[in-house]
Amino acid sequence: METAKVAIVGFGTIGSGVARLLLDHGERIARHAGKPLELVQIVDTDLSRPRDLKLPKGLLSDDLSKVVDNPEIEVVVQLIGGLEPARSIMLKLLESGKDVVTANKALLAEHGSELFDRARQLGRSIAFEAAVGGGIPIIAAISECLTANQVQEIHAILNGTSNFILTRMEEQGCNYAASVAEAQQRGYAEADPTMDVDGSDAAQKLAILAHLAFGARVDWRDIPRTGIDTAELPDMRYAKELGYSVKLLAVAKLAPEGLELHVSPTLVRHGTPLAEVRGAYNAIRVVGDAVGRVFFHGPGAGQMPTASAVVADLIDTAVGRMAITFRTLDLWSDDRQAPVAVRNPAKVPGRFYLRFNVDDRPGVMAEIAGILGRHRISIASLIQHETEEETDGVVPLVIMTHTAKEGAMSEAMKKIGELSCVHPGTIRMRVRE
Ligand code: HSE
Repeated sequence: METAKVAIVGFGTIGSGVARLLLDHGERIARHAGKPLELVQIVDTDLSRPRDLKLPKGLLSDDLSKVVDNPEIEVVVQLIGGLEPARSIMLKLLESGKDVVTANKALLAEHGSELFDRARQLGRSIAFEAAVGGGIPIIAAISECLTANQVQEIHAILNGTSNFILTRMEEQGCNYAASVAEAQQRGYAEADPTMDVDGSDAAQKLAILAHLAFGARVDWRDIPRTGIDTAELPDMRYAKELGYSVKLLAVAKLAPEGLELHVSPTLVRHGTPLAEVRGAYNAIRVVGDAVGRVFFHGPGAGQMPTASAVVADLIDTAVGRMAITFRTLDLWSDDRQAPVAVRNPAKVPGRFYLRFNVDDRPGVMAEIAGILGRHRISIASLIQHETEEETDGVVPLVIMTHTAKEGAMSEAMKKIGELSCVHPGTIRMRVRE
């Protein structure tokens, strides 16, 4: 019987999950692929690291040429993190005639056009379902299942680590540092968790989704982003009091003025599906002009969910489906003009949650409200809890605004920050209804 010979390059947590699926569930995979997928080689520079599965003798090597020079290997799962040597190795694999499956969103966000152009020139494909949303099949959904639509909006929770941390803080009152450490220990976080908590990981994923859904050519660094690294427990409590949960939300929204793009901690109203996404789960709410609202929810990080997406790509590639999708999608092609322009972030409207640490004395509220008013920002509600008489202390003041332009909000915040009654530590978050 014909078999497809496959290899894994980069054998960490996800690689072990992929190997486990291929080795322990070969029969099921053969049934779904119409032919067996035979794992013939695994390559990693570290042969001594303890791994959580037993491999047949001789399968693991530190010699990449065993893959590159083996013409029988058709598809390679490349699970090397970071940019280099991941980029060079992917080019080498493509040039030696292999199709590639990857989970490396940073590599695609950074070098997508070079890698995809090279793959196209060579008649090869690159599959990347696992790069966004972990186990959620969002790449296939947008690039295949929803192609009858003009996607109009994407609102998404794309970083499992951040969502895990926010959930821990909100539900258990855990502190930030302990929650980050636990996310790392569970294998959700990137090697450098800064990318998770400062919004970079979500921005890279949003750049990929915006490219697929809107044809946007955007460098992820140009996406305005704020992370959860300034998240504090009092904001979780105020959000709850106001009827919201805090989520790191990635937004891509089409308007006549262009495509609105940003990643920011956002108050999401209780009772809406996005507010209910807990732990390391991800969710993506897509609005299409024909289908209406569709909602995807599932594990956004972790070994087996990510391996699930990788192996699905492996099957698609081995049976030839990926080659067709890859050809027709024409992804990251420099030959194609981007059909949408990115909207000026200063002009993007939104509602805001603001928390100031202010002197507890007469006139403070009037000073802040005056600046907001002069910037045409209307207050929707506010919280200042009662304090002891005559404390002369610093107290938190929370303001929810009506819709305002991002640019006006930034200017007002700058002016408010200059007031002598306002102390450091101001928090600004977006609000989504
Ligand atoms: N570190 C990522 C996250 C998982 O926490 O969502 C891989 O993309």
